[in-house]
Amino acid sequence: FFMCFDLCISEIYVLDDEVGLGRVFDGIGGLSGGGATSRLLVNYAEPYRRQILDYLFKPQFGASLHILKVEIGGDAQTTDGTEPSHMHYESDENYFRGYEWWLMKEAKKRNPNITLIGLPWAFPGWVGRGKNWPYDFPDITASYVVSWVVGAKQYHDLDIDYVGIWNERKFDSNYIKVLRNTLDKIGLTGVGIIAADGNWDVSKDMDVDPYLKDAVEVIGAHYPGTTTIAEALKSQKTLWSSEDYSTFNDPVGGGCWARILNQNYVNGHMTATISWNLVASYYEDLPFGRDGLMTAEEPWSGNYVVESPIWITAHTTQFSQPGWTYLKTVGHLTHGGSYVALTDSKGNLTVVIETMTHDHSVCIRPPLPAFSVTPQNVSFKLNGSFASIRELQLWQSKFDFKTQKHVFFKKLSPIKISYGSFSLSLDVDEVYTLTTINTGQKGTYPDPPPSAPFPKFYLKNVTNPPFSEAPDFADQTGVFEYYINLTDPGPHVFTLRQVVTQMPITWATDADQTISVIGDYNWENLTVTCDVFMESVKTGGVFIAARVDRGGQAVRGAKGVFFWVFADGSYKVTNDLVGRTVLAKGLSGTSAYSWYTLSLTVQGQYATGMVNGEQLWKNDVVLGQHNGWAAIGTNSFELAQFDNFVMEVK
Ligand code: GAL
Repeated sequence: FFMCFDLCISEIYVLDDEVGLGRVFDGIGGLSGGGATSRLLVNYAEPYRRQILDYLFKPQFGASLHILKVEIGGDAQTTDGTEPSHMHYESDENYFRGYEWWLMKEAKKRNPNITLIGLPWAFPGWVGRGKNWPYDFPDITASYVVSWVVGAKQYHDLDIDYVGIWNERKFDSNYIKVLRNTLDKIGLTGVGIIAADGNWDVSKDMDVDPYLKDAVEVIGAHYPGTTTIAEALKSQKTLWSSEDYSTFNDPVGGGCWARILNQNYVNGHMTATISWNLVASYYEDLPFGRDGLMTAEEPWSGNYVVESPIWITAHTTQFSQPGWTYLKTVGHLTHGGSYVALTDSKGNLTVVIETMTHDHSVCIRPPLPAFSVTPQNVSFKLNGSFASIRELQLWQSKFDFKTQKHVFFKKLSPIKISYGSFSLSLDVDEVYTLTTINTGQKGTYPDPPPSAPFPKFYLKNVTNPPFSEAPDFADQTGVFEYYINLTDPGPHVFTLRQVVTQMPITWATDADQTISVIGDYNWENLTVTCDVFMESVKTGGVFIAARVDRGGQAVRGAKGVFFWVFADGSYKVTNDLVGRTVLAKGLSGTSAYSWYTLSLTVQGQYATGMVNGEQLWKNDVVLGQHNGWAAIGTNSFELAQFDNFVMEVK
């Protein structure tokens, strides 16, 4: 009675809840941060910004995510930029910096049940008392993290569900226990600890340390390649892929995501998978450009792209919720691919099948061992409480790498179940959802405006900023935030101020200088003008720059054309951020606590600089560096202010 095609060879897979159930499903999520991956999103105009948020979070619409994980900003470079800490200094507390609070609230607005997670990549320098290490003073580190949790509630009414330890860095068992205690002491017993956001090794320590085991609620591993280790399974703890994906979001990226969403459970018993990153909202020429579930990297045009991973996510998220349970009857298909099945234990059933081939589902890491997938006919037999199901809704994604005419998340006619069975003819590179849930929806908005380059004339002078950071600036070392300078007698009341005064406990290698980049990476010839104000007597120094060629973890090696003035009365023009390749230097008469208007023009291989409208140096030959972003910054971790920033491209 099976509907059978081709050679009529059909494997039979049984879906049954009478043999017992598998693990509880915790959801699929996205990660904002680690670092600054949502930087450009906040600057989108409406209605585009809320459309993007709807594609990510709105239930029954798009990715309909169950989990939002954010970076607890630590003032340091954490991949695509820095995110501000809620405590730049020991005596400082501010829960309105950056955009993660806003993002969490927007997510909650759309899905009040969304799970929230915070994880530090880096910490302000004071947390380590000057040492590049967060565990020497575990009480300080723990209370620093817990104050973020408390601030989330107090200032934003956000209940944080989980916190982590130190992203992909060593964990410290003692610190984990101190963190647990610090949470418990103030009644935050419901906030779970995820450990250790690296490999699975924490489970080995838990095996011999029952107190550690007690303190940890979820074992979270990164890029697990869909597998786990014996100790993790033995612990009986909840296992998550707490960071995964990080793959260019073309159809192969979608294929990677489809494969790991199923197989993280089938092979590794992981009950949640979190994508790095949530949305690619950072300059594409920074590291890992477009490694998000969708792309929103042009606030100036409003253009954004809903990429395939959004619809691949929908195959699971729209038809099963955290708290549902995987069946025991999940697994691999005989001719390649996998299937999972979930139930709410109230009669609902959702089956997700993927048949992604090896080359069309490679993720950034780890290496993917060879396997083969071929077209196949499959039959599913519904047993137990599913035996009475008469019809299943059917949703299909079909990658077609030959024609590039892919079909994503398409509703097909429901499947009739006859005698408790149904059959499907599966091609390669497909994803199917079969479900009793009939609320699925492929959400859609009118096309956003077309893609456009960064505007050639740009001036920013904001007096009542909605966020702490200036639009489109992407801090790569240090933190540049709006500042109200009430003591300024002149026109510089609202300024942008670099506020990090000490090297943080780093995650990547920050520069020894601070720097924020902006504009179009392809720019060659332009004039950058900015008012600058040094706040360090004698030792102060600030720069404006053009053609800056790199950021992210490579920021220390940034090249470009840097025009510096110093509080000791000198200036310098260099080809690099470290200031080693000097093109020109001399006297400028500059000092701290005065405003100066700096202007830098690069044209072909020549550069010229002005101070307060007067030429200071002229036609210096630029070495090698042909294009890149504009930038501002300081000579060290020092306070300095910037105002009236203008870029004009020739
Ligand atoms: C992870 C890290 C993320 C990001 C990502 C890029 O290891 O946690 O912050 O750098 O790699 O693939």
